[in-house]
Amino acid sequence: MIIKNGLVVLEDSVRRTDVRIENGVIAELGDSLSGDDVIDAAGRYVLPGGIDVHTHFCLDVGFAVAQDDFYTGTVAAACGGTTTIVDHPGFGPAGCSLDHQIKLYHKLAQGNAVIDYGFHGVIQHVDDDVLAMMETLADKGVTSFKIYMTYGFKISDEGIYHILRRAKELGVMITVHPENDGLVNTRRQELSESGCTAPKYHAISRPEECEAEAINRAIQISAVAGDAPLYIVHLSNHLGMQYIRLAKQNGLKNVFVETCPQYLLMDDTYYEREDGLKYVLSPPLRRKDNNALLWEDIRQGDVDTVATDHCPFDYTLKQKLGGEDFTKCPNGMPGVELRFPLMFSEGVIKQRISPVEFARLCALNPAKLFGMYPKKGVIRPGSDADIVIMDPGRPYTVTHDRLHENVDHTPYEGMRVECDIDCVISRGEVIVKNNEFIGRKGRGQFIKRSKPLLDK
Ligand code: URP
Ligand code: ZN
Ligand code: ZN
Repeated sequence: MIIKNGLVVLEDSVRRTDVRIENGVIAELGDSLSGDDVIDAAGRYVLPGGIDVHTHFCLDVGFAVAQDDFYTGTVAAACGGTTTIVDHPGFGPAGCSLDHQIKLYHKLAQGNAVIDYGFHGVIQHVDDDVLAMMETLADKGVTSFKIYMTYGFKISDEGIYHILRRAKELGVMITVHPENDGLVNTRRQELSESGCTAPKYHAISRPEECEAEAINRAIQISAVAGDAPLYIVHLSNHLGMQYIRLAKQNGLKNVFVETCPQYLLMDDTYYEREDGLKYVLSPPLRRKDNNALLWEDIRQGDVDTVATDHCPFDYTLKQKLGGEDFTKCPNGMPGVELRFPLMFSEGVIKQRISPVEFARLCALNPAKLFGMYPKKGVIRPGSDADIVIMDPGRPYTVTHDRLHENVDHTPYEGMRVECDIDCVISRGEVIVKNNEFIGRKGRGQFIKRSKPLLDK
């Protein structure tokens, strides 16, 4: 297959060139290449396939299950230009071994996923077995682990310290959901007891200070643990970024940051809307000024990746469970299908970031930080031919019925996207054409990930 005449987005530059694909791998870049199977990409961007390192397919939160499984979720991802995901499994039974959820998730994904995938391990308690099994799992391609500082299986400061020390020893990544559990729970209880149960109180119950405090605590523990690799998930506000920046100025090197489109494009006024429950997720949407501040943080190079935290629940379910009280509403929202188009539209076309910076945030850095580079995340000879052909001149308005996510709404309804995807190629195979998935169920492969590349 030859992709001709496109603007190819490389690691450091954009080049008008042709791309030759052979046996699922990028074979060659060059001018005037010829072959039997030609895709004309004139006037289009040829982008590395998106990598979303924060999805929650099949997430069981006890009283509800996130509605995209590894088939529907990866079809949606693919239709939106994402060719690789790394999923965050839900918690297993109390006291379970560290590989419990990995084994379960292999069963959930195998035979269903349509794009390549990996898993983060989820650490729910700390003991010698867990610390030992981090190495066993890393050897099997699970080279990152998630800890939560809130929710049911939160990890204590001492626990975080032991985990980070071990991560440093093994050279694996610890990803963290940072929120101050004591503060959040106290405020939730206070608000709920005083009848403040509308969706807007969700945001008021977990203010940015709760997130920023926990970010700072996690960072400082990483410093004490010897500059252990730490990845902050779903940063929602600029205050948190100020702590990260300060730590970096003081010499901390191995701290990385992810944000998500919802924190760049939406704000806490959404909770005042009639359908405010749709936006109940944690951390919550923030004051509007954070949107521009986070874009500026991106522009300054302080944000490493953009992921989605895709965790879809029907609006009807959210209403049923949380209509009377936001504390009963399952947290999370869909987004896996729109990250790539929205970031290209809002980022590149609106000239907030360059195409190279877009590719870094949405593909290259996720591949490097989560041990998939250079197999994934980049258009260069030898890499998997995971490619998206993007038409920058074909605008559309987001509507739920255009999407493939298995949920009854999209939080981005009515938003204008200034570009559209022509086709999506995964390991040399065209799997999406004109917004239709044309690949085979189960074609996705588990990626045995290497250790993270920290010096990206
Ligand atoms: O509200 C959210 N984000 N739900 C998914 C789980 C998490 O915290 O990432
Ligand atoms: Zn989280
Ligand atoms: Zn999440």
